[in-house]
Amino acid sequence: MTGHVTVTDEDAVRVIRLSRPDKKNAITQDMYRDMSAAIDSAQGDASVRCLIISGEPGVFTAGNDLEDFLKAGTSNTGTPRASEAIKFLHSLAHNAKPIVAAVDGIAIGIGTTMLFHCDQVIASTRATFATPFIHLGLVPEGASSLLAPWMMGHQRAFSMLVMGRKLDAEEAREAGFVNAVVAPESLEAEAQKVAREIASLPAEAVAASRKLLKHTPEDLIRRIDHESHLFGERMRSAEAVAAFKAFFARKKS
Ligand code: COA
Repeated sequence: MTGHVTVTDEDAVRVIRLSRPDKKNAITQDMYRDMSAAIDSAQGDASVRCLIISGEPGVFTAGNDLEDFLKAGTSNTGTPRASEAIKFLHSLAHNAKPIVAAVDGIAIGIGTTMLFHCDQVIASTRATFATPFIHLGLVPEGASSLLAPWMMGHQRAFSMLVMGRKLDAEEAREAGFVNAVVAPESLEAEAQKVAREIASLPAEAVAASRKLLKHTPEDLIRRIDHESHLFGERMRSAEAVAAFKAFFARKKS
């Protein structure tokens, strides 16, 4: 464990919390590994009936650690994309437990695309959702190219995923991937309330019903792997490497 992801179980609810506030909860390879482990180990554990994914007050996550992107983009190993991120996405695709997300502040990149795999999303009034892949010379990931148009329609998905437009909490609710918008101080309690409500329902019927509503893991994985292949190619493009370098250079000027 890195200490940047904490996992706590209470009353059939497992809370997976991103906690790297000095870097805006940017997700490293180790953090992906910890999150995957927390999801995978819940699968065969009947005592866990619902998961919550949350962040720190004021920051859900700034997305993938850009230093990792820069390293991958400038290395000669030919690795399509750092494997722990892909494994995390596969864990989400295979996951059969209901997931509630609690989003306060920024949800960037995978911070937003992971929400498309969740079953309930509670946002604070100051939550924002951004998938700036285009500005980084990248393509959508995490099966978002499949899930976003399915959830919100092609045109809205295009604004988000191809034009890189950001949504505030109300816009995300209107787009259909946020259930409720609450005051920041009520967020954790509201997410707990929803998770406990789900955990109190008949578990087998919840699992069977949820499965009926979702894309199959095979479909999700096929899309994740296709996107990842393109993403890996794009990461090594001159456009992407310049964008990653510009992010870190802006700190020095
Ligand atoms: N990867 C690595 N480090 C990141 C990061 C990321 N995705 N996002 C933020 N950080 C780091 C910054 O480098 C900075 O570190 P430092 O204090 O050691 O210099 C620290 O987190 C604070 O970020 P800062 O940019 O100073 O805060 P801000 O409030 O001005 O801006 C963001 C916050 C999130 C808007 C801005 O950091 C940002 O745009 N991050 C990149 C988001 C992104 O493109 N993610 C990938 C999507 S695919």
